[in-house]
Amino acid sequence: MKYHIVTFGCAQNVADSERIAAGYEGRGYKKAKLIKDADVVVINTCMIRESAENRVYGLVKNLSKLKTENFKFKIVVTGCMVGMAVREKTGKMLALFKKKLPEVDEFLPIEEVGFDHAPLRGDAKHALVPISNGCNNFCTYCVVPFTRGREVSRPFEEIIAECMELAKSGYTHITLVGQNVNSYGADIVNTGVKPVYVKHLGRLRIPTLFPQLLEEICRIKGIKLIDFISSNPWDFSDDLIDVIAKNPNVSRQIHLPVQSGDNKILRKMNRWYTRDEYIKLIAKLKSKINTIQLSTDIIVGFPGETEEQFQNTVDLCKKAGFYKAYISVYSDRPLTTAHKIYKDDVPHSKKKRRWKFLEDLINKPNLVKKQ
Ligand code: SAH
Ligand code: SF4
Ligand code: F3S
Repeated sequence: MKYHIVTFGCAQNVADSERIAAGYEGRGYKKAKLIKDADVVVINTCMIRESAENRVYGLVKNLSKLKTENFKFKIVVTGCMVGMAVREKTGKMLALFKKKLPEVDEFLPIEEVGFDHAPLRGDAKHALVPISNGCNNFCTYCVVPFTRGREVSRPFEEIIAECMELAKSGYTHITLVGQNVNSYGADIVNTGVKPVYVKHLGRLRIPTLFPQLLEEICRIKGIKLIDFISSNPWDFSDDLIDVIAKNPNVSRQIHLPVQSGDNKILRKMNRWYTRDEYIKLIAKLKSKINTIQLSTDIIVGFPGETEEQFQNTVDLCKKAGFYKAYISVYSDRPLTTAHKIYKDDVPHSKKKRRWKFLEDLINKPNLVKKQ
């Protein structure tokens, strides 16, 4: 029997797919390079934007057209689409997906795939290591707290053991993966490691073990490069900056999603920092780590975003000097607070224009430089 996995979405999904693959191998399946050779096709889904969801519908329809009398395979859907549907208590969402996708043989929650096998990694030198799953932040536009649930941290020692194993097997580059890596450990602080307290969501202080985790991984012999995605500006402590500054094997390219450069929009997004706090944070990072390069995520056309508010984002980008940005057009997502309380009122043409403006400003110069 052979399996084939199609992965949509972020690094967390890529890491999950490596474990799904290991699960199948453990049950005696072999990897099919091509869909036409597979007995089971697993689709690991993403729900972050409507376009991501639509890609799943498109793929399932195309797959079902491939099925013939002599060529049959099972279609299994897993990942964030299923995570969201099974967490939605009324069952309406799961029923809707089943109705929209009658060709799917099984909707499988990722938790049931089995994480008891070591992942089947896609690369021999660079490894993705998940350190937490889920998110507690509830940015008003975002489905992740609904698709993956609350943040659960992997045990500290388990992560260190995995990284040590990786070093022994010749891995030199580790990417730590989580939706908010720098709040890692808030749920497991009784491990004996002294936590760092960060101002969280502007109101509370939460304990995190991320600086210590990073530092311990830095000490593992053979690991030459460590990076992490994603970190959040509001949990970026001085202790974390110090760990990065004094360990040259932590990547100098840091991804720090800002989403907007306008204070009112940031509040509406439930992002707990102001543009000045963000600018101060990157100034601190630049002063302590002089070779640092920053990348970011930005959403354009959030409900109610005026031209002036967009210009505040443009201005912040100019000040920050990002070397790269993942710019998204706002997409209204089910279950989110923004979906419930704001009208998706920025016309699509305007969203596209704002997207292109930032794309040209931040990402196009890089293309020119590379040529
Ligand atoms: N945890 C990370 C981001 C995870 S989602 C963080 O907080 O930064 C990846 C990116 O998708 C986000 O940074 C955001 O820019 C984008 N995104 C999330 N929800 C979106 C939506 N509803 N519409 C458009 N873009 C969205
Ligand atoms: Fe989504 Fe915000 Fe959590 Fe990132 S921090 S995953 S944007 S809710
Ligand atoms: Fe998408 Fe799920 Fe990642 S919604 S961005 S695959 S956490």
